[in-house]
Amino acid sequence: MCGIVGYIGDQVAAPLLIEGLTRLEYRGYDSAGIAVLSPPHKAGAGDAEPTVTTVRRVGRVRDLAAALPKRLTGTAGIGHTRWATHGPATEHNAHPHRSEDGRISLVHNGIIDNAAQIRAKLEADGVTLTSDTDTEVIAHLVARSSAPTLEGAVLDALARIDGTYAIAVLDTHHPDRILVARNGSPLILGVGEREMFVASDVSALIRHTTSVIRLDDGELATVTARGYRTFTRESEDTGRVPVEIDLAADDLELGGHRHFMHKEILEQPDAVAAALRGRLDERFGTARLDGLNLGPRELRSFRRVKILGCGSAYYVGQIGAAMIEELARIPADAEPASEFRYRNPIIEPDTLYVVVSQSGETADTAFAVQEVKRKGGQVIGVVNVVGSTIAREVDGGVYLHAGPEIAVASTKALTNMAVAFAMLALLLGRVRDLSVSDGQRIIAGLRRLPDQIRAILADEASIEKTARELATAQSLFFIGRVRGYPVAREGAQKLKEVSYIHAEAYQTSELKHGPLALINPAMPTVALIPDDELTDRNLAAGEQILARRGPLVAVTHPRVDLSALDTAEHPVPAIVVPKNEPELDPILLTIPLQLLAYHAALALGHDIDKPRNLAKSVTVE
Ligand code: F6R
Repeated sequence: MCGIVGYIGDQVAAPLLIEGLTRLEYRGYDSAGIAVLSPPHKAGAGDAEPTVTTVRRVGRVRDLAAALPKRLTGTAGIGHTRWATHGPATEHNAHPHRSEDGRISLVHNGIIDNAAQIRAKLEADGVTLTSDTDTEVIAHLVARSSAPTLEGAVLDALARIDGTYAIAVLDTHHPDRILVARNGSPLILGVGEREMFVASDVSALIRHTTSVIRLDDGELATVTARGYRTFTRESEDTGRVPVEIDLAADDLELGGHRHFMHKEILEQPDAVAAALRGRLDERFGTARLDGLNLGPRELRSFRRVKILGCGSAYYVGQIGAAMIEELARIPADAEPASEFRYRNPIIEPDTLYVVVSQSGETADTAFAVQEVKRKGGQVIGVVNVVGSTIAREVDGGVYLHAGPEIAVASTKALTNMAVAFAMLALLLGRVRDLSVSDGQRIIAGLRRLPDQIRAILADEASIEKTARELATAQSLFFIGRVRGYPVAREGAQKLKEVSYIHAEAYQTSELKHGPLALINPAMPTVALIPDDELTDRNLAAGEQILARRGPLVAVTHPRVDLSALDTAEHPVPAIVVPKNEPELDPILLTIPLQLLAYHAALALGHDIDKPRNLAKSVTVE
């Protein structure tokens, strides 16, 4: 949700900024811009100040790159790729924003809550604002501060704003530095040899350095070519030292795939194997999740589990809650973190709160963590990005080990979330009444997953054929029952996100209580019909749909007999998924729905990795 980059060193800054922005484009992609400090024009102009060249464009980073002047040789600059919050995607609203005198240039990720009041005050003081954004006011506040240093001026400005921000500031009066500050939006420093990088995310700087500092909320840094100083809003040094990150630059490349979404779908067998590695204890039929920081006595003491996440992470949370209820027999439910945080929730001492997030930066989920902690609750994280905001704020957790996920539509991280919930359910079950043999049954099932996912992926060509047929529909139903319902919700969500086809998920059992009225030959239904205690009920619902001439696609298991549905005249396309243990089946049933969404979007010619109006990590409220 907006990407920030900055560079200061000996190299020409513009290409490095463009490269970083390209890597951050998944965070926002409606407009982009850079500002580069250039040395004074006249040679020998001793004390003349440098000038700033700012270039902004609506559209993608490649459009910005094409618009850059040939000679842009400055070695310090900042850049931004935008996901609009205040004002439409126009060149005026694109960052960097400037002060009236051109001295201050600034990029920002986050939302300034009192921007309207500050705008009114600035306008009353005669300042002409040139954009609709909340960001521009910060540039004016910095420029209008009477503090003699850039640090002082930024602190003055920050004291007047409420909201969330990660900012990077250039000042022609202090061309040797970039000033950055963080409050609620991620910001990272990269330490190089006689050069420093600034970024919202490590992916922007991984090609240049693996030595990074993740700033905390309330922290600022002065960044120069020779180093950095981190400090608080009270100007006290925080003395942060860099840590090494474990990420290969190749993980961020397409590697011959047309889209990251496809690459990430295909990576799932290996991603699941990585999530399970070293965490299964066959002998005692349990899971080892040391990062939880919870001993058996504490694990036993919880009487309820509450899972909090947003979007697809919330749907996987529902899958996880079902696993916990089944295996540990503890009441468990999932709720959107975006709702939870606003409803003054009751935090109970014997409830284990679990937040789930790929990015670890989703603002609503991070606020939910704070709400739980503020009220004395115990919260653990199921998170992919190591060292992310949520990972650092929780009391303990399980890392997903899915590797970097670049496509906006999440796939492999979601699958690993479900695997992590299965391990958590196993552990909670084994400190209660789940038997060793049942624990071993689940472990054997978890071990089968990578090969079974491979088998589903091997069926891609036939799933693609079905997807092409579905892609002609205006609207679709996804139906599932009990364990299958969150799978249906996630299937509908994935299709909506990348193909823009309207899709709605329903509990199969609820169909006859209303939505059946919508069934007609133009409204296909993707029905989850697993081989379990509810198969007959699901088949009966399929018959009701066919009786109303609704096209049906079955996502099912090998032993399910579809003959009651399938006739020579109206064959029902079936996507047959390998059977696992009933508690783990939702993990596998989700995989073909990812391929359905991907191939429907491909057939419709959409920009799959960057769907319209969306961004990967939603760091604003
Ligand atoms: C769906 C999707 C979103 C995210 C949601 C939470 O494909 O990607 O619904 O699942 O925005 O994001 P994280 O997991 O980063 O907290």
